[in-house]
Amino acid sequence: MRYEIAVIPGDGIGPDVVREALGVLDAVGARFGREFRFTSNLMGGAAIDAEGVPLPASTLAACRESHAVLLGAVGGPKWDALPGAKRPEAGLLGIRSGLGVFANLRPAFMFPELAAACPLRPDIVSGGLDILIVRELTGGIYFGERGRSSDGLSAWDTERYSRSEIERLLEVAFEAARDRNKKLCVVDKANILESSRLWREVAASVAPNFPSVELSFMYVDNCAMQLVRNPRQFDVIATSNMFGDILSDEASMLTGSIGMLASASLGDGGPGLYEPIHGSAPDIAGQDKANPLATILSAAMLLRYSLHLEDEAKAVEKAVASVLAKGLRCADIKSGAASERVLGTRAMGKAVVDEIREARS
Ligand code: IPM
Ligand code: MG
Repeated sequence: MRYEIAVIPGDGIGPDVVREALGVLDAVGARFGREFRFTSNLMGGAAIDAEGVPLPASTLAACRESHAVLLGAVGGPKWDALPGAKRPEAGLLGIRSGLGVFANLRPAFMFPELAAACPLRPDIVSGGLDILIVRELTGGIYFGERGRSSDGLSAWDTERYSRSEIERLLEVAFEAARDRNKKLCVVDKANILESSRLWREVAASVAPNFPSVELSFMYVDNCAMQLVRNPRQFDVIATSNMFGDILSDEASMLTGSIGMLASASLGDGGPGLYEPIHGSAPDIAGQDKANPLATILSAAMLLRYSLHLEDEAKAVEKAVASVLAKGLRCADIKSGAASERVLGTRAMGKAVVDEIREARS
């Protein structure tokens, strides 16, 4: 069977890191005898420049017809002055919602080799870190009603969640916790927000279906603090769109760098969307400086969740671990140790490809 993958390089470092991930998928295809077909699609600033809209209908259609979507990053200063609905980020929200990928899995996993890149005291992270943030992705304040008063002197955005939106997200989170270390923490602001109180009610109603999972609740401000005080207390964190956006950036840094964090966005059976959690870093775009590993690890998630190619996914993750074990680093994850060699984007991608090839012989 041939796997159709819709690719959206996007803006800034997006094309740099996506190019390396495609090289890795090609190497996986060669090693395991799989055929991947890639189509390149416009979104974000690149689409605004070429077609005048951040998400052309042809892009969404191509994504819907594929088995999975691999995305780099969108946005940049060039488009910052545009009104909200015309910005590159509107394309990103449009594709998430257009594909119905409501559950965003963001694993904050620390490769043991990168312990020195973690900004926390070694004793706080000794034994490693393995947290999965399950972020709601197609609802909440990102998609709620927003506007400005006619005099322009006030503005509003709305956090709104329905029972069914919360329930389907929490089911994914409970299932993940059941299959991992059996702890689920629902993070909210239930001391203030009515929508958070609904999240708690729904969590309590779903919990009996997952008797092996220990459910707890935590306010988001406390969670932000606990993540740096004692991150090893967490297994799976489930939270709303905006809280998940914020906490996943924080958690990523604990693993060494935001340049390492992959993500999978899943819906009800349609194509999944895979993207690094970092942004488009326009300041280093096209300079062979970006770390491609988050996108390469996103490609591994794509193999696992959308194509159900578990051995292939593991091969990619293993190749990344081997590269790190050899002391190869991008600038964002170097610790300065003499045993390290700092590589650019292309050389890092090639190092992962070489690992995959070598493992074959
Ligand atoms: C992310 C990003 C996006 C988000 C931006 C670029 C709109 O920060 O994927 O975390 O807020 O979801
Ligand atoms: Mg973010």
